[in-house]
Amino acid sequence: MTAKELRTRYVNFFKERGHKEIASASLLPENDPTVLFTTAGMHPLVPYLLGEKHPLGKRLTDIQKCVRTDDIDEVGDNAHLTFLEMLGNWSLGDYFKQESISMSFDFLTNHLHIPPDRLAVTVFEGDDMVPADTEAEGIWRSLGLTEQQLFRYGRIENWWGPAGQTGPCGPDTEIFYDMGKPCCGPDCGPACSCGKYVEIWNNVFMQFKKEADGSFSGLKQKNIDTGMGLERILMILNEKTNVYETELFLPVMTKLEEILTQQDTTLPERDKRIICDHIRALSFLLGDPKKISPSNTEQGYILRRLLRRIIRLFKKAGIHENYLCTLSEVIILQYQDTYPELKENRDFILEQLQKEYLLFSKTLDDGLKKADRYLEQLGTGGTLSGELAFKLYDTYGFPIEFTLELATERGCLVDMDGFYQKFKEHQEKSRQGAAGKFAGGLADHNEQTARLHTATHLLNGALRKVLGTEVFQRGSNITSERLRFDFSFDRKLTTEELEQVSAIVNEAIRNNLDVVLEEMTPEQAYEAGAVGVFSGKYGDIVKVYTIPGYSKEICGGPHAKNTGELISFRILKEEASSAGVRRIKAVIGAE
Ligand code: SER
Repeated sequence: MTAKELRTRYVNFFKERGHKEIASASLLPENDPTVLFTTAGMHPLVPYLLGEKHPLGKRLTDIQKCVRTDDIDEVGDNAHLTFLEMLGNWSLGDYFKQESISMSFDFLTNHLHIPPDRLAVTVFEGDDMVPADTEAEGIWRSLGLTEQQLFRYGRIENWWGPAGQTGPCGPDTEIFYDMGKPCCGPDCGPACSCGKYVEIWNNVFMQFKKEADGSFSGLKQKNIDTGMGLERILMILNEKTNVYETELFLPVMTKLEEILTQQDTTLPERDKRIICDHIRALSFLLGDPKKISPSNTEQGYILRRLLRRIIRLFKKAGIHENYLCTLSEVIILQYQDTYPELKENRDFILEQLQKEYLLFSKTLDDGLKKADRYLEQLGTGGTLSGELAFKLYDTYGFPIEFTLELATERGCLVDMDGFYQKFKEHQEKSRQGAAGKFAGGLADHNEQTARLHTATHLLNGALRKVLGTEVFQRGSNITSERLRFDFSFDRKLTTEELEQVSAIVNEAIRNNLDVVLEEMTPEQAYEAGAVGVFSGKYGDIVKVYTIPGYSKEICGGPHAKNTGELISFRILKEEASSAGVRRIKAVIGAE
C-alpha cells in the first residue's frame, strides 16, 4: 500500500463514521507555550479538548505533521523519527472507550488486514490516583485478544500527556505490532526496547487536566485522542523491517547512496538514516508556513542542531561539498502534492540550508580539529570538561549534543553539568546586558541611559517587524551617549530596511506612549508574547515592559516613563558583530 492510499483510507474510514476532516496545523504550536513543536495531532485541539465547542462538531479526524525532539537520540533505529505524520481521530465529549477501541481494531484488522494475532495491547494498571482500566481490558477481550496479547503497565507506559507542563491528559491503551522476532527474555513485552514490538497506535482516554501546580482536575467532557504513526503502519503493511525502507525514504536514501558512491566513500547505516531523517524534518520545518530559521534559541536551535549534525556526518564521510539542498529537493518533490507548503516555500528552504552550511562549515573544520585534540589528550574513558565543551559551543558553534556525540564515538564522557554551569554564567552575563544593567553598573543609571534602554526595546521590536521574528537580541551595551544593540541576522541590512526601522521607532516616539510595567510568571509573559530570556525557574516572577503596539519584553528596567522623552532616534551605524550577528549603534535626542 502506498502512503497516499493509506492516508485516504484512514481519513475515509473515520469520515464514514461521522468524523469531519480537519487540516494539518503548523509544526509550530499556536496556543501552547510549553512545547517547541507540534508533537501530536491533539495540540491544535487543546481548547476543544478542554470544552470549547468545535465548529465542525464532536468527531474529528486528520493527518498532522509532527516533530518530536525527545526521540532524536533514537533516530536511526528501526522505528523512531524526528518528523512524522500522525493519523488521528478525536471524540470531543462524544464516544468513549468502547467505540474508540472497536473502531481502531476494525480499521487495523478488517481494512488494513493486519492479522489480529500479530497485535499486542497495553492498558493502564492503575495507581493511587486512577484505578486500573478494566473497562479497556474488557473491551479488548471481547474483541478476541488473549491474555498473552494483553499487558498492564503503570503511569510511565500507559498515561499520555500533557504534551507540555499543563493540559489535557489521561490513561491510554496502546496498540503494538509484533514483528515476529522471538522474545528477548522472560520480561519481554511491548515496553521492552528489543524491537519485537513496535507501537503503532495510541488511544488516549482524556479525562484529566494537569494544572500548573502538578495536580489533576477532571475535564468537563470525556474525550478520545488517538494517534497512529503513518510511517510505521506503512512499514508493517509493506513488510519492511524498518521505516527507512518504506517508499517515504526510498528516494532520499537512493540519492544519498548516489552521492556516497560518486564520492567513493561510505557511512554506517545508522548515519545514513540520521541524514535522511534530519533532512526530511528540516525541509518540513523550514517549509512551514510560519517560516522559522536556524538560530541559537528555542525552535531555531533545534533546526541548527539537526543541520549541523548532517554537515558533520558528511564531513565524517570525507565529503566537503554541500549536498543539503540536493537532498532537500528530493524531499520537496516527493511530498509537495500532499504538503503544498513545501513547494511554496522551496526557495526559502534551500536558501536557509545554503546559508547555514556556509556559516557553519567554515568553523566546523577548525572546531573538529580542536575537539579531536582535546579528546585525544583525554584518551578513552576520559571526561571532557564543561569549560572545553562550552568553548566548542561558543567559539565553534558546536551544539552540546553534537560534542557529546563526538565524545561518545571516542569512548569519552562530557561533564554536562559543568557545561550547563558555564552556559548559565554566560547567559547571566548576556542577560545583564539585556536587562540594561549597563557597563558602569548602577552608577550609570540615569535618565538618559533609561531612555536609551527604552530606545533599545523599540529598536528590537522594529527589527522584528521589518526583518522577521527570527531576529533575537544577542547583546546590548548602553553608555550615556549611545546604545549598541546586537541581534541575530546574517546579512547586511539594506538602506531601505534601516530607514523602515528608524521610521517605526520614531513613530512610537511621536505617539507619546506610556511604557507599561507589569509583573508576571515567565509562563504568562511567554503567553503574552513577550520576548526575552525565559530561563527563570518555575514560580519566578519577571518584569515585563510593554510599549503598546511596538514592544513587549522581559527586562529588569529601568525605562523612560513615556516614549516622548526620547525626542527622536537616529541609527549611526550597522555592521557585522560576529557570524550571524549584526550590530547597530544609535542615538536619541534632538538632532
Ligand atoms: N496524543 C497521543 C500520542 O501522541 C495520541 O495521539 O500518542
